[in-house]
This record gives sequence, structure tokens and C-alpha cells, in this order.
Amino acid sequence: MNRVFSGAQPSGNMHLGNYLGAFRNWVGLQDDYECIYCVVDMHAITVWQDPAELVAQTREAAAAYIASGVDPEKSILFNQSQVAGHAELAWVFNCVARIGWLNRMTQFKDKAGKNREKASAGLYVYPNLMAADILLYLATHVPVGEDQKQHLELTRDVAQKFNHDYDTELFPIVEPIIMGEGARIMSLRDGTKKMSKSDPSEYSRINLNDDADTLAQKIRKAKTDPELLPAKADELEGRPEAQNLIGIYAALSARSRDEICLEYEGKGFGDVKKGLTEVVVDKLAPITEEMARLQKDNAYIDSILRDGAERARAIAEPVMADVRKAVGFLS
Ligand code: TYM
Repeated sequence: MNRVFSGAQPSGNMHLGNYLGAFRNWVGLQDDYECIYCVVDMHAITVWQDPAELVAQTREAAAAYIASGVDPEKSILFNQSQVAGHAELAWVFNCVARIGWLNRMTQFKDKAGKNREKASAGLYVYPNLMAADILLYLATHVPVGEDQKQHLELTRDVAQKFNHDYDTELFPIVEPIIMGEGARIMSLRDGTKKMSKSDPSEYSRINLNDDADTLAQKIRKAKTDPELLPAKADELEGRPEAQNLIGIYAALSARSRDEICLEYEGKGFGDVKKGLTEVVVDKLAPITEEMARLQKDNAYIDSILRDGAERARAIAEPVMADVRKAVGFLS
């Protein structure tokens, strides 16, 4: 059986990178797989979150999933902390994964920065919790943006080592699903850094709840270069900001980078930005509106998450029972 699991951290505003790298792809999988989509609030607290804001951001993330097209009837939608198995399995995986594996994780290095001693222990073992999220449901496929690839390799290693150490075939070896254009959206201020919730500059990202004026302003201010557009996209080599804007344009308009370049050949980024603004507003406005509508009804969102957690628990509990047995926990 093929089962999909994926999630996003409610640690700030959901942005265009999350939409193009993840949410949009989750939607298309709902007809062919049993899908589980999680708001990973336990991951979010690896960096301190204001408690009241975490509640609001968890609801906002759920609204973003639904507004992007996740159907809570077809798929399971819940927040991580409601299913105790995530923490329980993560502990077992803390004892399976090797410190050397965690030391190689580039996301930890980026997030912890220079002062690693001051990072939370949770941030360090974060990939083990992510492996637990996926394997708790015996998920086989994980749709993510490119930045999560290394974590999924660790998930495969953890599954393999658990199966080996405990002489079982309980855990599947998961396959990442990383979909073409949109898998790596960069900051609007620096084309070499990924678009991220934690970037202190609001102008670095397009949030899913930005209104049309804000979107237009952010695109107008996006960093570019003074060169004109070439006829072919591979001639954009060495121009990271230009590549990023053309990539976003292509991903949102379902056209190739070459087609966009051809349309603007010999023109400057002022023209590209006008066209791009139209496409961004056109695609995001319905999502923004739907998110705003959903967020007026906390009771509705909470009931969706509660119901999802119940369905998630029903899948997770027998798996946890098998884990306890395999490890030798007396029950
Ligand atoms: P998070 O919250 O950083 O991002 C959620 C999803 O959005 C994708 N994404 C991007 N895609 C393209 N360009 C970008 N600039 C960009 N920024 C983010 C991410 O790749 C991700 O798919 N560790 C995960 C959350 C997680 C998870 C899991 C994912 C926890 N447990 C289990 C899958 C399965 C994270 O921090 O994603």
C-alpha cells in the first residue's frame, strides 16, 4: 500500500516556497495515495515560539493547506502534538540514529549558526523526529521541497538500521517526491539563499496571506540585475536572482523557463516584474481569500484537526505496538 506523509512547521507565515515546493504537490497526490498532512508544531518549538502565536500559526498552517486544495475528507489533516506516538517513536529513533549522522545535517548547521552550543537539543535531534513522523504511519512517499532531501536520506537510514538491529521488516524505505519547477524557491533579496519563514526581512518572501498591494510591492523591490533577458533560460547562468524570478514565473504559469525568456527577450526586469506580479496575484489571491475566510472560524479548523488526529492515531497505535514489541518493551 502506498501512503503519503508530509508536513510544514507553523513557525511563521506560510510562503510561496512552501506552496510551490510542497502544498501544491500534496493536492495532486490525494487521488492516488492515502495522504496524511501534518502541521508539525513539535518541530516548530525547536526554536522558541510565543505560545499564543504558535496556536494562531498552527491554525493558519491548517488554513493554508485547505486553501491550497488539501481536502480534509479525503486526506488526514492534523497537528503533530495531538498524536503522542510522534514523540514516543522519536525517542526510539534517538537511540537508533548515530551522532555522526546528525552531525552531517546541513539544516542544523544553518539554523544553529555560529553559536552551536546555545542551540536547543531538540534542534539537533530534529531529523529523528521527522523520521518518526513519517515511519509512525509506515508512509512510503514524502512530497517535499529540495531542502528536505537530506532529512529523508536520514529517514531511510534510520528505517534500515531499525529493521536490521531488531531483525524486522516493519519500516518501509521511503521515497522522496520532489517535483520539478518550484522545488527550490529562493529569497527575493538574495538569489543564493532559500525563501524561508525565518528570514528577518519581510521583503525576502511572498507570504500566502499578503494582499495584492503587498505582493506588488515585494516583487517591485525584489533584487535583480541590470542585464536584459536572453532568448534561452540557460543563458541566465550566474544570475541567481534572475533565475529565481523566471523560475517562479514558470512554476506559477505552468510554462517553461524558455517560453518566459522568449516572451521577454531583450527586455529588462521592469517588464518581467509587471507580468510576474499579475501571475502571482492571479494564483495567490484565491488562496489568500480562502485562508482569511477559514481563519474567521477557529472552531471549524480545530474540529478538522481533532478529527484528523483521531484518524491518525488509529493508524499509529498498531505501529507503535509493533515497535514496542520489536524493541522489547514489556506491555
Ligand atoms: P518547512 O516547514 O521548512 O517547509 C514545509 C515544506 O515547504 C518546502 N519548502 C520549500 N520548497 C521550495 N522552496 C523553498 N524556499 C521552500 N521552503 C520550504 C519544504 O521542503 C517542505 O516540504 N522538516 C520539515 C517539516 C517536516 C516534515 C516531516 C516534512 C517535519 N516532519 C515529515 C515531511 C515529512 C520542514 O521544516 O519543512
